[in-house]
Amino acid sequence: MYQHLHGQRVLVVGGARDLGLAIARAVTQAGATAIIGARDAARATAAADGLAGAEAVRIDVGDEATIAAALDQVGAVDHVVVTASAHHNVPVTELDHARTVAAFEAKVVGPLLVAKHAAPRLPAHGSIVLFSGVAAWNPAPGYTVMGITNGAVAFAVQHLAAELAPVRVNAVSPGIVDSGSWDRLGDGKGAFLAGAADGTLVGRTGTNDDVTDAVVWLLGAGFVSGETIHVEGGARLR
Ligand SMILES: NC(=O)c1ccc[n+]([C@@H]2O[C@H](COP(=O)([O-])OP(=O)(O)OC[C@H]3O[C@@H](n4cnc5c(N)ncnc54)[C@H](OP(=O)(O)O)[C@@H]3O)[C@@H](O)[C@H]2O)c1
Repeated sequence: MYQHLHGQRVLVVGGARDLGLAIARAVTQAGATAIIGARDAARATAAADGLAGAEAVRIDVGDEATIAAALDQVGAVDHVVVTASAHHNVPVTELDHARTVAAFEAKVVGPLLVAKHAAPRLPAHGSIVLFSGVAAWNPAPGYTVMGITNGAVAFAVQHLAAELAPVRVNAVSPGIVDSGSWDRLGDGKGAFLAGAADGTLVGRTGTNDDVTDAVVWLLGAGFVSGETIHVEGGARLR
């Protein structure tokens, strides 16, 4: 049965911008209190100031001490969403060790440590939502680290769900979404997004709303655990 989020507390790690901020907005609209977690405390506070009742906390998933301190500061929490990512999109022959490790830390090791510190505090109806991504299922030159880290998330939620039950653990796997993240491509962004739209069955890229709808549904979907929900317009099938 769907559990409404009204009155619940949702920590959104990476919640100060892009998809994370959109998720914080969406859970607020669903009646929950959003707790915005970000590496930059001032940025978290500024984002929280724009949302009714929201709170802010500093958290860097690459630094376990900040994870533990953030969960202490937050206190009661019903759900945790982790959107953190660190891109290292280069050919395998050009991999940088430190940036490769950072990518795994943001997507895999960090979220595992967030689960470690959050699990003892989450109620039986609680849940964790992690972020995978379509690159895991569409291997392409230059996107190997992104693909492997996103693929690891899909396995991670199955293992975490089995161990942390009855707390539910799921993932959302977006396709290409113009969340703000791709602005770094500058003038190349338009062509990139057009190519990504062509690579779907529905002929468009994703919106923040496409993804936040899935997250809000997963947080309340009491009979869904260990799943990865693909929100990518059929991009795995093209
Ligand atoms: N947008 C897409 O097209 C797309 C496609 C597939 C999958 N996804 C996945 O969806 C998720 C959200 O995407 P997005 O577009 O919002 O990505 P994004 O713009 O890259 O945002 C990533 C977020 O993670 C935070 N972050 C990075 N490293 C962190 C760390 N060590 N500790 C805490 N927070 C950290 C960033 O915060 P700072 O402000 O501190 O940097 C930022 O809020 C990501 O996991 C991404 O891989 C996105």
